[in-house]
Amino acid sequence: MSKIIVMLGAPGAGKGTQARLLAERFDYPQVATGEILREMATAETPLGRDIRETLAAGQLVGDEVLADVIWKRTSQPDCRDGYILDGFPRTLQQERLLEEVAAQQAKRIYVVRVVVPLESLMKRLTGRRTCSKCGEIYNIYLRPPRREGVCDFDGAPLRQRADDRAETVSTRLAAYEESTAPLVEYYRASGRLTEVDGERPVEEVFRQLCAAVGCPGAQAAGGAEDPGS
Ligand code: AP5
Repeated sequence: MSKIIVMLGAPGAGKGTQARLLAERFDYPQVATGEILREMATAETPLGRDIRETLAAGQLVGDEVLADVIWKRTSQPDCRDGYILDGFPRTLQQERLLEEVAAQQAKRIYVVRVVVPLESLMKRLTGRRTCSKCGEIYNIYLRPPRREGVCDFDGAPLRQRADDRAETVSTRLAAYEESTAPLVEYYRASGRLTEVDGERPVEEVFRQLCAAVGCPGAQAAGGAEDPGS
């Protein structure tokens, strides 16, 4: 059965970094709701402006908007064999929607959470820089590029996200505690959650994730094969 891999974790835990690696290994698309919303926020429409304000404030965008985003994006042909959800679901209402989506698409949901203590998150977020061309993620303190301000792979300039300023980061972390922590508890109580230590080096976190979700070729890389195959 094809998979939906759900990446849970606080802002800055490393969901995006790991989702990119999983997407490559599975040859699945990475469905990153934050990225989709940032793109929608550039539109000069009432919805675009509304999303722009919500993102700038570090709050969660409404569940109805997310429902629309998820149905549309995951109905695209590239999602047919499976996909990685990076940043969705974030509320219990979004989780219920995901169950519906998975049932309709005949896919199995795997939930993994990248765990990083709160004190590390601020440094990760304020230090993050992203390649404006290929999306590679760096950190000026923890994973700096070889040459300051430019991507190692394509030489394009690195950008800082508007919501990575210290004052907005605090609101994002509070929104996570309020809305997403209950969802983590729900998945944990239902026995469907695998948690990995997100403070390990990127490659090691990836190995733990591969073991949890059954990456293709994971045995050779030191993990478990797909438990469902
Ligand atoms: P979104 O874009 O999803 O942001 P986020 O959840 O806040 O997560 P981040 O992208 O900030 O962090 P990440 O966990 O991906 O970490 P990363 O890999 O980049 O959402 C943005 C906004 O959109 C939300 O605030 C909300 O308003 C809205 N939104 C999105 N989805 C929504 C939804 N479902 N419902 C409602 N609203 C929604 O890594 C962070 C840094 O750490 C990087 O610098 C990286 O290099 C570094 N790093 C990563 N791994 C390691 C490691 N192992 N060791 C050392 N450093 C590492």
